[in-house]
Amino acid sequence: RHVVILSGGISHERDVSLRSGRRVADALLRAGAHVTIREPDETLLPWLAEHEYDVVWPLLHGASGENGALYSLLRASGIPYVGSRPTAAKLAWNKGTAKALVKRAGHSTPQSIALPNETFRELGATSVIKAIAQGIDYPAVVKPVEGGSAQGVSFVNTLSEFSRALVTAFTYGDSVLIEKQIAGTEVMVGVIDLGDGPVAMPAVEAVPKSGTFDYEARYNAGETIYYSPARLSPEVAERVAAIALDAYETIGLADIARIDFIVDEEGEPWFIEADPIPGMTETSLVPLGIEAAGLELSDVYAQLAAKAAD
Ligand code: DAL
Repeated sequence: RHVVILSGGISHERDVSLRSGRRVADALLRAGAHVTIREPDETLLPWLAEHEYDVVWPLLHGASGENGALYSLLRASGIPYVGSRPTAAKLAWNKGTAKALVKRAGHSTPQSIALPNETFRELGATSVIKAIAQGIDYPAVVKPVEGGSAQGVSFVNTLSEFSRALVTAFTYGDSVLIEKQIAGTEVMVGVIDLGDGPVAMPAVEAVPKSGTFDYEARYNAGETIYYSPARLSPEVAERVAAIALDAYETIGLADIARIDFIVDEEGEPWFIEADPIPGMTETSLVPLGIEAAGLELSDVYAQLAAKAAD
């Protein structure tokens, strides 16, 4: 098979995308595939039209891949790709929408408010912060509604920390999510469909040494201890897997995705977000989950590519 991997792009997660692209390419090469890695620049579509290949695998984290626009172009051009339908990716990419859908399906997600930039500018920081303080319990997490790799995310413990957190989050997008912080463990579940329906990989638990699973903790080896599988009781592990599958299906995701939770001290899994193009780097959680399931990355990636190509 000839797989064209798209990585790089101009999002804030460009570096992560380059790393994911290289790791998936290496695994596919081990499986005997022929791989081309390409940037998604303005020459992409003409290039795709002129070359021979079996399938495209966009590993473009951030808006450039996850907002569904590139998927739409590929679909409209009749090009097979690994990944979700454009609309599903777009729903997942917006954390507010994803949370609302998963909540409606009966699952727990932390209380939150989405704040568009216009509202922030019209009302001014002081009244917005007062309103938020009445609507959300502390401590809170402030994050871009659309964003990845924990970029622009701040933890807010007092009112005075809010304005800075909001300004930081607004540098990444037009809308910010203010979410009640849940104390507990970060647990992430890869969901993969190799052709017989979606299957949840064992949950992986991230325990960052700094206490915060931020960009540094995610992408620097040794900064986070990963428990793979996560240290959950069999009952909680089963629940997390079932909710991950339900979230994947509720949002309408396909092929491969990651569903993130915080499991609180009582063992309750709180849905945080769904990632339609999860990180596939050497420190990312989906590959760890695949290995924890006893599967080979090269086999799984080759099967995903083959399924999408057919
Ligand atoms: N958005 C990145 C790639 C991740 O969280 O895995």
